[in-house]
Amino acid sequence: MKTIAIANQKGGVGKTTTAVNLGAGLAIEGFRVLMIDLDSQCNLTRTFLTPEMIQNTLANVLIDNKGDGLPFGAAIYETHIENLDLAASHIRLAKLEKSSQFDDLFRLKDSLNSLSDEYDFVLIDCPPSLGIVVTQALLASDHVIVPLAAEYYAFEGTQDLEETIKSVRRSNPSLNVLGYVVTRFDARTTASAEAYKQAQAMFGDKLFETLVRSNTHLIAAPAYRQSIFEYAQASRGSEDYLNLTKEFLARLEITSKVRLLKEKRK
Ligand SMILES: Nc1ncnc2c1ncn2[C@@H]1O[C@H](COP(=O)(O)OP(=O)(O)O)[C@@H](O)[C@H]1O
Ligand SMILES: [Mg+2]
Repeated sequence: MKTIAIANQKGGVGKTTTAVNLGAGLAIEGFRVLMIDLDSQCNLTRTFLTPEMIQNTLANVLIDNKGDGLPFGAAIYETHIENLDLAASHIRLAKLEKSSQFDDLFRLKDSLNSLSDEYDFVLIDCPPSLGIVVTQALLASDHVIVPLAAEYYAFEGTQDLEETIKSVRRSNPSLNVLGYVVTRFDARTTASAEAYKQAQAMFGDKLFETLVRSNTHLIAAPAYRQSIFEYAQASRGSEDYLNLTKEFLARLEITSKVRLLKEKRK
């Protein structure tokens, strides 16, 4: 099981969109995926679940319980996509930001340890902040993906995130930045072109080659509770997230299960 935090303290950069569509992309490839919605705004949760479908959430598991009672699994729901599960958020999860006990920082990590072999990948959709919740996510993760929206001021704050990652490494030394990914790229605007050039200069090899282009289908899909692969399979958004999924697997040196099967048949 590999755990990947999707983080950037800026809002609107594509964290949730990436969690949904990378999650769906990996599940479609046959991997077992758990998405964790750590943002109290619940965008990821609402993309897949209606309020009536939800009983317990991460608020019950991470705040109310102090290690006894409800297991972490009580907050996990199956989605309509095979192999794709979701740990649901709740507006009360914002309270986690105020936890003051050292032990609280490791609650998510401990909970994930208890799941160990049920999933191939855990994707954590982080809130737009650099507080205790994001620290919990980074402590529980093997890798970080940082989405950057291709616009002016795209890199504001990436240095603060890097510093947070550095300090988390004192307790989680192998935490690795898997890559930065440029999203909402619009080739017609100078702002996008400039942002991409700057990202190449700043992040070099750490920049994913896949550019996620600006695509209106990516905005509309959550309203239909669908991933881009269902909502608009022939769209740029679908093409870009499929490529990101492949590049993600390549960076982790994991061969796609589907491709493996095809090779065997030859
Ligand atoms: N590639 C894209 N093209 C167009 N709109 C996008 C793209 N990625 C995200 N968006 C939209 O931008 C907004 C913010 O994206 P979101 O994934 O919620 O960001 P974050 O989770 O970082 O706040 C949403 O309305 C989303 O639909
Ligand atoms: Mg979000």
